Amino acid sequence: MVGKTNCSSIQLLFFTLVYLGFLFLRSINGDPIVHCIENERIALVKFKEGLTDPSGRLSSWVGDHCCRWRGVTCSNRTGRVIKLNLQNPFEFREIRSLSDYKSFENSYLGGELSSSLLSLKHLNYLDLSQNYFSGISIPIFIGSLARLKYLNFSSSAFGGTVPPHLGNLSRLCYLDLHGNSGSENNDFQWLSRLSSLRYLDMGDVTFNGGGGVGLIQAINVLPSLLELHLSTCGLYDLPLTLPFLNLTSLTVLDVSSNYLNSSIPLWLFNISSLVSLDLSDNYFRGPFPNVLSHMSSLQVLKLSGNQISGQLPASIGRLSTLKLLDLSGNQLNGTIPNSIGRLSELKFLILGGNPWSGVISDVHLMHLRKLRQLKISSISQENPLAFDLRDDWVPSFRLEKMYIRDVQLGLTFPAWLRTQTQLSTLVLANVGISGNIPEWFWKFSSRKMEYLSLYENQLNGTVPNLLHFHHECFVDLGSNQFEGRIPVWSNVTDLYLSNNSFSGPIPSNISRMTSRLKGLDLSSNFLNGSIPPSIGKLQDLNWLVLSNNQLSGKLPQDWRSPELLYVLDLSNNNFSGKIPTSMGSLTSLGYLVLSNNSLYGEIPSSLRNCTSLRSLDLGNNRFSGNIPTWIRENGALRIRILRLRSNLFSGKIPKQLCYLSFLHYLDLAHNNLSGSIPQCFENFTVMSSDFSPTESGDDYNEKTKVVAKGRELEYSLFSNLYLLTGQIPEEIGNLRKLETLDLSKNKLSGPIPSSMSSLTFLSNLNLSYNELSGKIPSGNQLQTLDDKSIYMQNPLLCGPPLSAKCPGDETNQGQGLVESEEEDIDGFEMFWFYVGMAPGFVVGFWIICGTLLLKKSWRYAYFQLLEDWADKFYLLFTVNIARLRRKLRLERN
Ligand SMILES: *[C@@H]1O[C@H](CO)[C@@H](O)[C@H](O)[C@H]1NC(C)=O
Ligand SMILES: *[C@@H]1O[C@H](CO)[C@@H](O)[C@H](O)[C@H]1NC(C)=O
Ligand SMILES: *[C@@H]1O[C@H](CO)[C@@H](O)[C@H](O)[C@H]1NC(C)=O
Ligand SMILES: *[C@@H]1O[C@H](CO)[C@@H](O)[C@H](O)[C@H]1NC(C)=O
Ligand SMILES: *[C@@H]1O[C@H](CO)[C@@H](O)[C@H](O)[C@H]1NC(C)=O
Ligand SMILES: *[C@@H]1O[C@H](CO)[C@@H](O)[C@H](O)[C@H]1NC(C)=O
Ligand SMILES: *[C@@H]1O[C@H](CO)[C@@H](O)[C@H](O)[C@H]1NC(C)=O
Ligand SMILES: *[C@@H]1O[C@H](CO)[C@@H](O)[C@H](O)[C@H]1NC(C)=O
Ligand SMILES: *[C@@H]1O[C@H](CO)[C@@H](O)[C@H](O)[C@H]1NC(C)=O
Repeated sequence: MVGKTNCSSIQLLFFTLVYLGFLFLRSINGDPIVHCIENERIALVKFKEGLTDPSGRLSSWVGDHCCRWRGVTCSNRTGRVIKLNLQNPFEFREIRSLSDYKSFENSYLGGELSSSLLSLKHLNYLDLSQNYFSGISIPIFIGSLARLKYLNFSSSAFGGTVPPHLGNLSRLCYLDLHGNSGSENNDFQWLSRLSSLRYLDMGDVTFNGGGGVGLIQAINVLPSLLELHLSTCGLYDLPLTLPFLNLTSLTVLDVSSNYLNSSIPLWLFNISSLVSLDLSDNYFRGPFPNVLSHMSSLQVLKLSGNQISGQLPASIGRLSTLKLLDLSGNQLNGTIPNSIGRLSELKFLILGGNPWSGVISDVHLMHLRKLRQLKISSISQENPLAFDLRDDWVPSFRLEKMYIRDVQLGLTFPAWLRTQTQLSTLVLANVGISGNIPEWFWKFSSRKMEYLSLYENQLNGTVPNLLHFHHECFVDLGSNQFEGRIPVWSNVTDLYLSNNSFSGPIPSNISRMTSRLKGLDLSSNFLNGSIPPSIGKLQDLNWLVLSNNQLSGKLPQDWRSPELLYVLDLSNNNFSGKIPTSMGSLTSLGYLVLSNNSLYGEIPSSLRNCTSLRSLDLGNNRFSGNIPTWIRENGALRIRILRLRSNLFSGKIPKQLCYLSFLHYLDLAHNNLSGSIPQCFENFTVMSSDFSPTESGDDYNEKTKVVAKGRELEYSLFSNLYLLTGQIPEEIGNLRKLETLDLSKNKLSGPIPSSMSSLTFLSNLNLSYNELSGKIPSGNQLQTLDDKSIYMQNPLLCGPPLSAKCPGDETNQGQGLVESEEEDIDGFEMFWFYVGMAPGFVVGFWIICGTLLLKKSWRYAYFQLLEDWADKFYLLFTVNIARLRRKLRLERN
């Protein structure tokens, strides 16, 4: 026994010594196990030399022990480099601010990929994702890294086409090329040679010609493929039928955000292994496929954003494994089948934005015990959807998010909500409820709520004066009939109470109780008193709208705190006094709307510091002095709307206005301006050309649609400038997109320039009450403007449509005088058009960022975005409008 113990002790001592020796050796010799192969080390050094590395991520790549360099992994057995992980550690999706972006930008690698990598004969893993290779092509030699199993080049700004040589990587299991700006030709045969492939992501890679048929055919020979991600590839088609289906293992298929506009290909529903099918954000047409019986594993079905029509078949109830069903934004009509209530695994039920009709009863909802999110809205005009739930109904679910919109929910505030104690988002907008909000609701909602909107109902009574939200909360009670005082609720970040009957003053302690306030909209109530000075101390405020009240007094004098203020609308009140000089410190201000008040004095020159200003509306006040010339300086250059109508401005129209190359709306009418129209219209031409960095026709078309919606976007208006004299400049023809031109009641003389006939968008013209002379030019657009009143009270004008004949003209084509349908031109509509965009902004912004980085041509725009925060809306329109539009549509649903 003793001997044995001794033996064991000796053995133990021996092993301990060996181990200590080992540790000693290790400490003097670095890594005794993994040696670095010299030619591989040299190859890595060469590879590093090709790269740019501003943040020094590869600073550990020195010395002999390449297996210990950051991002390098060697085989424990052979010491050969098997893995290179050079992913940018700062993820793009984490970017929330300019400084985040800077960190991201600093930490990416760029430059070139050296073919020295070919010396790493055992490399099976290569990750260069989230870097920035500024549009260079993926090098052909990558196709010769024969052992690669994992290749991740996602979001790395590679350009050109993917070299077909990648098809030689017969061991490749994972190929992620997501979000590179390269465009694919339609030859996808190389993909079909990737016989080991399990995961393929070519999302956000533009495919020339959108050849989805060839692509799917090439991929359909990869029986081991598990995940296929083809979102946002510009695909126009998918094969409607396939001779055979070899995608027998596929679990994830994502073809969202393309241009697919056929019926939904039925072969998709034969892939019985599918767990997630995302067809959202396309233009799929036709009825809902009634062939779901094979899909025994399906958990996620996303069909939003399409044009699927007709009834939702009752067979939907057979998808018993379904956890997420998103049918929003289609044309599904008729009733929602009761069988939906059998989907007992459902967590997310999203049915917004369809023309549903009929009734939703507890049969639909009874078994949905696991439901966490419910989103329903109807766009049916005649026969809108209605809920039929008793007040004492007890739901089996505990919702976390609930959006019900444009659906008849009941007559009064639903009592069954009381059971939904986990709600963090509640939207009951335009659901027909009226009367008081019960007392319990406030207590209940202050506990978990983060987003509360009861917008557009007939709720009345008062709201509690004090309330304490346990989480930061967005609150929108707009367009109801609430009365009483404005409440002071703590931890509210956004308070929207417009269009109610609130009265009394704005509470003076509003800043103390809700110092995190970002948005405050109290417009269209019956508020009086003055603005408490403390509002100017809300540091996070970026949205302050107090228009259409009876507020009076002077504006707060100190505006130095709300550095991020973007919208300030105080219009239609009784404010008096001057614009405080300190408003010049609102360097983020995009919209300053002070119209219809009794403000006076000159525009303070400090406003020149508001370099983000996009819209300045001072109309209908008593402002005086000259129109400032500094307006062309700095960022004010980007001003798009300048409305100074009905004030006491005097002097000449400054020539500097010509340099406002982004100007789309100029209204100087009803002032005491004198002089002539500046002879610099040619410099307005920028305004009428497409100045956006867009490339594709699609973007452009979308942009003009936006323009059409916000009609005034291209207006220019100079009417009733007293004593405006001289001739209409010939250069006016350069304002090619001018829609309205009103030069009436001036003292303009001379002929009407013939260039005006090239204003093809001109639809409202008024030249009456001037001293114009000569023949009215004809042709093109002017031909359609045949209303006599356009030219009346210009005794020296002649020719059609006037009855006065010009010397030498024989015919008289006098036409009946038609009443002029002059538009009521009003900057507000424009303004509210922008404002209306805002809720989608945050979403849209980050979506766009997701692609921006990678599309070279968009980076320019992106930098502008960051430099000029106020440009955000503009960029939304131009950068990727199609996707944004869909997103906004979905948000609305
Ligand atoms: C190599 O060894 C280390 C530690 O002994 C271990 O963590 C690692 O997983 C091994 N690597 C491989 C590729 O086997
Ligand atoms: C590729 O890298 C990105 C980010 O760097 C990551 O999100 C993605 O999941 C990776 N792809 C695969 C297939 O692992
Ligand atoms: C790799 O693929 C390309 C094109 O697909 C082909 O021309 C080339 O011969 C292949 N190279 C090897 C080493 O197989
Ligand atoms: C695809 O499936 C068909 C029929 O099931 C079969 O004949 C063919 O060999 C398969 N092709 C591949 C590449 O697996
Ligand atoms: C649903 O829409 C189709 C056209 O897509 C129409 O033919 C049908 O009558 C509608 N059904 C109901 C119930 O409105
Ligand atoms: C509130 O609305 C209910 C239901 O429409 C109505 O009966 C009641 O008179 C309203 N109360 C007030 C104070 O307007
Ligand atoms: C306000 O909200 C934040 C974040 O949601 C939370 O952490 C904090 O506790 C809340 N403040 C109070 C006083 O409840
Ligand atoms: C405007 O900017 C100038 C210089 O950039 C600065 O001196 C001035 O104080 C600023 N005015 C205001 C009101 O911020
Ligand atoms: C128009 O702008 C150009 C350059 O910006 C300038 O040289 C020219 O003088 C301007 N024309 C007028 C009439 O102001």
